[in-house]
Amino acid sequence: MKIILVENYEEMSKEAANFIIKEVKANPSLKLGLATGSTPVGTYKNIVEYFQNNTDLTFKNVVAFNLDEYVGLSGDSPQSYKYFMRNNFFKFLDIEEKNCFIPNGVATDIENEAKQYDKLLEKYNYTDVQILGIGNNGHIAFNEPNFTLTCETNIVDLKEDTIKANSIFFDNINDVPKKAISMGMKSILFSKKILLIASGENKAKAIKEMISGLISTNNPASLLQLHKDVTIILDKDAAKYIL
Ligand code: GLP
Repeated sequence: MKIILVENYEEMSKEAANFIIKEVKANPSLKLGLATGSTPVGTYKNIVEYFQNNTDLTFKNVVAFNLDEYVGLSGDSPQSYKYFMRNNFFKFLDIEEKNCFIPNGVATDIENEAKQYDKLLEKYNYTDVQILGIGNNGHIAFNEPNFTLTCETNIVDLKEDTIKANSIFFDNINDVPKKAISMGMKSILFSKKILLIASGENKAKAIKEMISGLISTNNPASLLQLHKDVTIILDKDAAKYIL
């Protein structure tokens, strides 16, 4: 794991944006795995800024795969990840809508939706670069700590601490969906490169466990130790226990 230590959220966002910009320039048909949450907002903002002020970056042929979506929220719901991606990233770029994939949280047959998402990932031979955040409890995408984990895209019961952490995006904690559809650890680990970003003291414990804890399904992020090309961009607060 390559660790890049920066001062704060702003620097983390710039560094992560530069990482992605470089990858897209090197491969204009990049298959890019995307994450949601508060952590990547600044990264997306910096990429958009670069895109708007320079002519040497295009997303015309980039294919985007999102990690997850809440079950029960349609793309019109402001808390859905589809809405998040559109309004924080896609609408500012020249990316083709047909190349932006995200699981459908309101599919009538949600189990089948998960299967189809996996088939799609397989068809594209998975992603080239996967951006990840990390949950306070070590979850990756919505793969929650558990006695066992599912390899494939699957329907997850969200843990209380995840519901609490994500309730900041909702008016009321009771509005947070209890289930999500999430890429499994297989597709994440099949990405050629992984870029994990983290900021803030509330991530410090999860970061330490991810880097130096035992590999365990009770700590999904620890599985990243098995991947050969992981870059982690951390600010000082998130790196508190590894310094
Ligand atoms: C959510 C997402 C994850 C994200 C995590 C951290 O549950 N499913 O992909 O990494 O929470 O979110 P934040 O960046 O808001 O701390």
